[in-house]
Amino acid sequence: MKLPGLIDPHVHLREPGATHKEDWDSGTAAALAGGFTAVLAMPNTQPPVTDKDSLDHVLGVANTKARCDYAQFLGAGPENSQQVFCIADRSAGLKMYLDHTYGPLRLDNMLLWMKHFSNFPRHQPIVTHAEGRTMAAVILIAALYDRPVHLAHVSLREEILLIRAAKEKGLKVTCEVTPHHLFLTQDDVTNLGDGRSEVRPPLAQPSDRDALWENLDVIDCFATDHAPHTLEEKDGPKPSPGFPGLETALPLLLSAVGGGRLTMEDIIRRMHHNPQVIFNLPVQEDTWIEVDPNAAWEINADHTYTRCGWTPFDGWRVRGKLKRVMLRGQMVFRDGEVLARPGFGKNLREIVDKG
Ligand code: DOR
Ligand code: ZN
Repeated sequence: MKLPGLIDPHVHLREPGATHKEDWDSGTAAALAGGFTAVLAMPNTQPPVTDKDSLDHVLGVANTKARCDYAQFLGAGPENSQQVFCIADRSAGLKMYLDHTYGPLRLDNMLLWMKHFSNFPRHQPIVTHAEGRTMAAVILIAALYDRPVHLAHVSLREEILLIRAAKEKGLKVTCEVTPHHLFLTQDDVTNLGDGRSEVRPPLAQPSDRDALWENLDVIDCFATDHAPHTLEEKDGPKPSPGFPGLETALPLLLSAVGGGRLTMEDIIRRMHHNPQVIFNLPVQEDTWIEVDPNAAWEINADHTYTRCGWTPFDGWRVRGKLKRVMLRGQMVFRDGEVLARPGFGKNLREIVDKG
């Protein structure tokens, strides 16, 4: 069965600064092995991507190393609203970290949020990491400036119901949910161990997970928040938050189709059409993936492309397997093997849409 190329709007590639966890080569190989032909990279690298120099640097790296297509987010800092305005068109959009997370990018003062909302070009997306009440605050500010906001990794019942209410009011909010918040909860912490279950937003209660499934119509995108950290780091004294997700998202969601909880159309809408529209991405010509929806197999961390070498879904029995990936007329993945070379990937902000 053929589907359009998947788009993951939320991926941490760790380069520059932490290539022992992931780099543009390994991360985009993992993307193709997961059925993603395009990824949007987050800016909380070391150093973070917050100005022209850091954007030039990371796009230079991506140009030589990316195996799938991509765009790069800019990070909102306390003093860079003018700088990011000037380079906005070369970026995937602006990422605002408004709650505790990994890395130094975080804005607490709402006046700073307002500055970014008023300055950033209206046709370019703003994505926020905002949990609980912070989410309510940022929805208000987006409404005050009458511009769209995309809410990353919604995980709580109160959040998804808030978003439903905001949409019903006609506010321009869109949102994404991760597979790990759809499939894991606090009940899995004992099995996973404390370090390996560290993630932001944290794993929630079963009632939160259930609310996400019950409000599927409110969820615009499934996004992995692929956030690789090594096992040594996860099992160490100060475990960093984050799960790899690029290679497990599709089989988990295909299993939900097999189990009758989702339809293929649900997947295509949330992993292709909606991300393309929300992030204003060009059509990838002659691009598709092929899956065998009935193939049963076991997720095995030893057989992954991500450099981090583990997954919270290790040993899970899934149904639905990626067979082939075609990207812009080139076979880039076949039967477990990534065929695209580093540098094949293109910057989506430089592709001119023929449509
Ligand atoms: O768990 C997370 N890890 N949540 C985030 O927001 C950041 C991410 C990371 O970069 O590791
Ligand atoms: Zn993230």
